[in-house]
Amino acid sequence: MGYSVAIDGPAGAGKSTIAREIAGRMNFIYVDTGAMYRAMALYLLRLNIDPGNKEKVEEYCQKADISIAYDQGEQVVLLNGERVNELIRREEVGNMASATSAYGMVREKLVALQQKLAESEAVVMDGRDIGTCVLPHADVKIFLTASSAVRAKRRYDELAARGQECDLKEIEADIVERDRRDMEREISPLRQAEDAVLVDTSRMAVKEVVDTIMELIRQNRESQTGKQTGSA
Ligand code: DC
Repeated sequence: MGYSVAIDGPAGAGKSTIAREIAGRMNFIYVDTGAMYRAMALYLLRLNIDPGNKEKVEEYCQKADISIAYDQGEQVVLLNGERVNELIRREEVGNMASATSAYGMVREKLVALQQKLAESEAVVMDGRDIGTCVLPHADVKIFLTASSAVRAKRRYDELAARGQECDLKEIEADIVERDRRDMEREISPLRQAEDAVLVDTSRMAVKEVVDTIMELIRQNRESQTGKQTGSA
């Protein structure tokens, strides 16, 4: 296993911005696990599969070939060989991902891919169950959160910047509903790992959040070096 930083938290807490920045500074690989659930959701959406139909979802999820590549440090998500980075950002795909990620077979398949990536590389991985399930022995675990109003505003600004028409109230309602589904599902629900550090970003600038986590990594590495020297 390489060195690993796990960042979990609800939608819109700023996980990907923060994780990407930390990975860049540490020269680690950034693994966006939400993108994998989104690629699977896109595959199922294209086939018109009803997210409520567990049997169908579990049958068809086996046929999706999802893989990850890196292009100049950016994660590229491939769905049956097609680059889907932009397509998976649509709200419709996010909602489908939230519904279909509740199924055991979907999770098993994608968790295996995530664990494989962390086997040989130093990673910053973000998602919902990284510290609790995917990398339970991660070196540093962060639970990143923010109020639903702040998260909705961030998502709104992001979509507006891309020229997508959207409604702030609708986005907040979607976020609240997605939080509920992510936290209440039976398998690997979103929750803070016991040994994760809680970082509430509602009133923090990106730089402040990054500096806080970089300091936790520094302390962790120092304590690991201390342990190694101590036992030598
Ligand atoms: O982080 P995101 O919005 O891209 O994630 C999309 C959906 O995927 C989210 O609603 C829940 C699911 N997900 C998950 O169940 N486990 C993960 N590790 C990452 C995402």
